[in-house]
Amino acid sequence: MNAKEYPLSNFAPYREGRNPYRHKIFELSQQSTTMLGDQYTENHKGSWLRIAYSNPTALQFEIGSYHGETSIEMAKNDPQTLFLGMEWKHKQAFKAGKKAADLGLKNICFLRGNCARLPMVLAKGEVDRFLILFPDPWGRFSQNKWRLLNPDFIQMLSYLLKPNGQIFIKTDHEDYARYIEQSLEEEKSIHKMPQLHAEEFWEKVPHSPFERIFRRKNLPIYSFAYEKIDKAELPERIFHALEREKKILT
Ligand SMILES: C[S@@+](CC[C@H](N)C(=O)[O-])C[C@H]1O[C@@H](n2cnc3c(N)ncnc32)[C@H](O)[C@@H]1O
Repeated sequence: MNAKEYPLSNFAPYREGRNPYRHKIFELSQQSTTMLGDQYTENHKGSWLRIAYSNPTALQFEIGSYHGETSIEMAKNDPQTLFLGMEWKHKQAFKAGKKAADLGLKNICFLRGNCARLPMVLAKGEVDRFLILFPDPWGRFSQNKWRLLNPDFIQMLSYLLKPNGQIFIKTDHEDYARYIEQSLEEEKSIHKMPQLHAEEFWEKVPHSPFERIFRRKNLPIYSFAYEKIDKAELPERIFHALEREKKILT
């Protein structure tokens, strides 16, 4: 792995900001179960399935859910699953929450927040499946440290997965694809899923906005499907980055 370590500053708690969508997100979250923002995304750790009215039995978590299209389409077809989607950008996250509310969906919630803080949002073993579509590649060497899918992050995802839980990833970026594969292979608590099982799942996932762009340009798309086969602990570095906030320990 040649990238530098993911900066600890990126685990910091949320601060008041002036983004106009911050307030809209807060208002929507008062009226609807399809939206939560910032610190409020950390109030349901360990009890997410109870926020949905459709009595779901499984939890899918999408990282970088953008306008919410993919999770919304999947949620329409699968009421037994609760779909959570986290997005850093306020406007995109709001659009997703608003669309889900307008559609009256009961098994989906969009979270405006930072996925670096996932152990504050989700309990150990709470998630059935992570979906990560076209994560920002941070292609220049000097930017590599910002790559989310670093080995610690993958270990953290495994820690948050149930036994046999799954991780599905797609990227168009060749260098990031190599880096992601190394991160996945380094993590011994997960292994590559049989091709057939992976394909069965990918057939159910509609093409995301970024995937449509890359397909129009005929760019190659790299996909990864791994499942949890052994216990995983929270990486020490992430534990220490968040432990000051104590909630992490529960
Ligand atoms: C390249 S876009 C892909 C969007 C969408 N998944 C798609 O395939 O069309 C990556 C998305 O991840 C979001 N993102 C990046 N880092 C994040 C983080 N730490 N927490 C939450 N979202 C993040 C970005 O804001 C952006 O919307």
